[in-house]
Amino acid sequence: MKIDQMKLARFRNLEDLEIEPNGRLNILFGPNGSGKTNLCEAVHFTSTGNNLKGTRQSELINWDEDDTLIKISSAAEDQIIVYLKRGEAKQVRYNSKEVKQSELRRILPTYTFTPEDLNLSQGSPQRRRSMINDQLGVLSDDYGSVFRKYERELKKKNNLLKKDEINEDFLDVLNERLADLGAEIVDRRSDYLTDLNEILPGTYGEFAADDHELTLNYSDGRYADASREEIREILIEDIRENHDREIELENATVGPHRDKFRYRLNGRNLRKYGSQGEQRTAVVATYFANLTLYEETFGELPILIFDDILSELDRSRGNALLEYLPHDPQIFMTTATRNQSFKKLSGEFTAFELNDGEVERLT
Ligand SMILES: Nc1ncnc2c1ncn2[C@@H]1O[C@H](COP(=O)(O)OP(=O)(O)O)[C@@H](O)[C@H]1O
Ligand SMILES: [Mg+2]
Repeated sequence: MKIDQMKLARFRNLEDLEIEPNGRLNILFGPNGSGKTNLCEAVHFTSTGNNLKGTRQSELINWDEDDTLIKISSAAEDQIIVYLKRGEAKQVRYNSKEVKQSELRRILPTYTFTPEDLNLSQGSPQRRRSMINDQLGVLSDDYGSVFRKYERELKKKNNLLKKDEINEDFLDVLNERLADLGAEIVDRRSDYLTDLNEILPGTYGEFAADDHELTLNYSDGRYADASREEIREILIEDIRENHDREIELENATVGPHRDKFRYRLNGRNLRKYGSQGEQRTAVVATYFANLTLYEETFGELPILIFDDILSELDRSRGNALLEYLPHDPQIFMTTATRNQSFKKLSGEFTAFELNDGEVERLT
């Protein structure tokens, strides 16, 4: 679904806003603090149920008010309504019927790219792990359910490890279950990385002068080419070897919840050797490679949201990004400065300016 009209009431500093975006590219200008990120967040939140800043839904409600309303309509007159009131459960409606948040991910799919995401290659291992988890969760519903099962068993194990007396039989049972589910998770992650690595060098090449071989892989080489059964053996072995240590630390220290992934550029660890430009290009390349995988799976592209990305890229990479934007999906792109060469953009785009929570159409 593309957004033909969006109305926001009391959403952060956007107290009463109505915008009719283009079906293709929408550029949102505006000084710092004008509400650009908040506008992106309204779309992202409707789609995913997650904030862009902070974590609590109630923070989205204007701080002088008790509730907020998001109304999104398509040209075909499909309508999504999200209503949030302090102290009450969120209400989500699609064409007047109550729907689950998870259904909106498919009805209004979005891919958001924020400056924080640019730390993907340099930041902690957890960032790369959650990118892979999120992406797999978007591509298949069952990955999400396997992962949630794994997390439930992991919680049981961690509770058990904190007890004064450990029931070793129960620990064995949990470890077997964790190895089964863990092998499936590692196997799915490996398959995803194989698919990603076929696309990554090409997308990287779009943003870099020379061709470079970019890959993202398990830091742990033991999983390379391993079958699911072999992965299970590796996990069981790890768990066995760490038995005493896990009891001592009262924490499950091995398994896919601790998986580490590493980018390599021309075979070298990007985190250790890459320049900042190369790191960022790798992240942008990953974003677009993920989009390609999304399109291969669902046959169309989601709504793309780029919040303040241009200001974080140097001019040539920023221009490369603008030129590389796909033509079919709806795109929201924010920027505080107007000096980017938007003239280079092919096709139509609409520019808006935000000031203190109010939006005005410029073109
Ligand atoms: N719950 C809220 N109620 C009212 N204003 C808010 C709320 N949350 C954030 N704001 C304000 O929204 C303003 C705009 O934020 P933001 O969209 O991040 O601006 P930018 O245009 O720089 O991206 C900020 O100045 C902030 O103080
Ligand atoms: Mg912002």
